Amino acid sequence: MTKKFYVTTPIYYVNDAPHIGHAYTTIAADVLARYHRAEGRDVHFLTGTDEHGIKIVKAAAEKGISPRELADKVVVGFRELWDELNISNDDFIRTSDIRHEARVQELIRRLVKRDEIYLGKYEGWYDEGQEEFVTESVASDNEYKSAINGKDLVRYSEPSWFFRLGKWAPKIIEHIESNPSFVQPVSRRNEVLSKLRQGVDDLSISRQSAKLGGWGIPMPNDPDHSVYVWIDALSNYITALGMPEIGDEFDSKAGKYWPADVHLIGKDILWFHAVYWPCMLMTLDIPLPECVFAHGWWTCEGQKMSKSLGNFISREVIAELCREYSRDAFRYFVLREVSFGADGDFSREAFRRRYNTELANDVGNLLSRTVKMIDRYFDGAVPAPQQTDLTGVEAQFLAEPLKRLQDESAGAIAGCRFSKYVGAVLELASATNRYIDATEPFKLAKDSSQRERLGTILYACAEAVRIVLIYLEPFMPEKVADGLARLGLTGGDPEPLSRRACFGRLEPGTRVVQSEPLFPRKQ
Ligand code: MSP
Repeated sequence: MTKKFYVTTPIYYVNDAPHIGHAYTTIAADVLARYHRAEGRDVHFLTGTDEHGIKIVKAAAEKGISPRELADKVVVGFRELWDELNISNDDFIRTSDIRHEARVQELIRRLVKRDEIYLGKYEGWYDEGQEEFVTESVASDNEYKSAINGKDLVRYSEPSWFFRLGKWAPKIIEHIESNPSFVQPVSRRNEVLSKLRQGVDDLSISRQSAKLGGWGIPMPNDPDHSVYVWIDALSNYITALGMPEIGDEFDSKAGKYWPADVHLIGKDILWFHAVYWPCMLMTLDIPLPECVFAHGWWTCEGQKMSKSLGNFISREVIAELCREYSRDAFRYFVLREVSFGADGDFSREAFRRRYNTELANDVGNLLSRTVKMIDRYFDGAVPAPQQTDLTGVEAQFLAEPLKRLQDESAGAIAGCRFSKYVGAVLELASATNRYIDATEPFKLAKDSSQRERLGTILYACAEAVRIVLIYLEPFMPEKVADGLARLGLTGGDPEPLSRRACFGRLEPGTRVVQSEPLFPRKQ
C-alpha cells in the first residue's frame, strides 16, 4: 500500500497582508510535500487562513469594513502569493468555511458530552495580537505588554467555558518525554517541558459573542459564547480532512491522512500546538500528530522586521526578488540560508552571494560546462562510458559525496534539515567540478587515443549533474525541469526520486541542449 504523508502549515491570520514569515513555513511545507510525492507517497498538503478572533474584528473595524469583508479581501493575497511561489497545496481551508464551522461545533459537543468543559469566569490578561492568555507573573515580567509585539495586554473579566487542561498535563508531559521527535527542535521541546512542569491551568475556550460582534463559531451548548479562536484554528488540521463526520460531502475523506506527519509552525505558536492541541485530541481519543516542528524567526538586514523601519519583506518585496532571481532561487535561499529551527537574518547581499556561489557557480556552471563539452566533443549525444558504475578516478572523486547524499538525504528531510540536505547536494556538485578540473577533459579531447576515456569522464559529469538536479527538484521544480531538459530529459520518469538519482541510469546517446545559463550571475 502506498504510504501517506500529511503536512500542514499554520493557518494565517487575515488581519494583515502576507510576508516572509508566512512564505517561509509554506515553502518548507511545499518542499516536504514535493519530496514525498516524488518518492511516490500519497501526500496531502494543507494550508489556509484563520479568520475569527478579536484581532480580526478590530482590524476590520479600523478599516471600516466587516470581518468577513476583510477576510475575503486578504485571503486573495495569500492565495496569490502561494501561486506566485509555486506552492502545491492540495487544500486551502478557511475557518469561516461551513465545513469547518460545523465540525468545530461537533468537536465541542463531544467535549461537553464527555464532561471535559465547564462554565467558569476568566479573570486575567490577554494578548490580543497573539490571541493568547497571559499569566499574572508573565504579564508583570513583561510590564503588562505583549512579549511578541510590545502592545499593551488587555484585562479580561468575563464568564467563560473552560477545558479541563490541567488534568491532561501529566499525560502530555509523558507523551513528549517518551516521543523525542514529537516536538522539534530539541531546544524548543525542553522549553515546552519545563513550562509544563510548572503546572498548567484549565483553559478558557470561549469568548462572549457580543464582544466579537458575533464573528466567531457559536458554542453549540451556549450560543452567547463563541469558540476561542485557537481551539477553532487548531481544529482545522482535522476538519479539513472531514473529521469528525457530520453528514456532509467532506465525510468521505474522513481520516484518510490523519494523523499528520508534521505540523510546521513558527516558534511563537509552539505552546498551542504542543500542548492545547494534543490535549484536546487525547480527550477526544483521536491519535496525535507525529511531529510539531517549530522554526525560528527572520529578521531583516539585522533588525526586527517592521513597516516603520521599511525593512519589511512583504509580498511585494518577495515578488520583486522572485522577478530578479527567479522564484525557485527565493525558495532555495530561505531554506538554505538558515538551519530550520534557528532564527535567521534576511539580507539582500547574502541572497546575492549565495545565489552566485551556489546556484550560478556550483550548479549552473557545472551543468553548462558539461553540456558544452558533450556538445562540442560528442556532437551533443551523451557518450557511452567504459563502465556505468563508478570505479577508478571517477569513484575517487564522486563515490563518497554521492553515497553520503543517498544515505543522508531521506533523514535530513525527515528531520527538516533542509540546509544540510542542500549542503550534501552541493558537495556532489563541487566534487564534480573538482573532478573536471583534475581530469581535464578539454585536454584529452585533443588526443584521439583518449576518446573512450573522455567519454567516460563526460558521462560521469552528466550523471553527477543529473543527480544534483534531481535532489534539488523539491526546492526548485522549474529550474530543475529546465536543467534536466538541457540533459535531454523531458519525460517524467515515474520512478521514485531516490531511484532516479542512482548513478548509471542516463542512456548514452541522449541528446543534450545548449542554452543560456540556468542561473545567470547577478552583480
Ligand atoms: N493564526 C495563527 C496560527 C494558527 S495555526 C492553527 C497565527 N497566524 S499568523 O499569521 O500570525 O502567523 C503565522 C506564522 O507566521 C507563525 O508560525 C509565525 O511564527 C510566523 N511568523 C510571523 N513572523 C515571522 C518572522 N518574522 N519570521 C518567521 N516566521 C514568522 O499565528
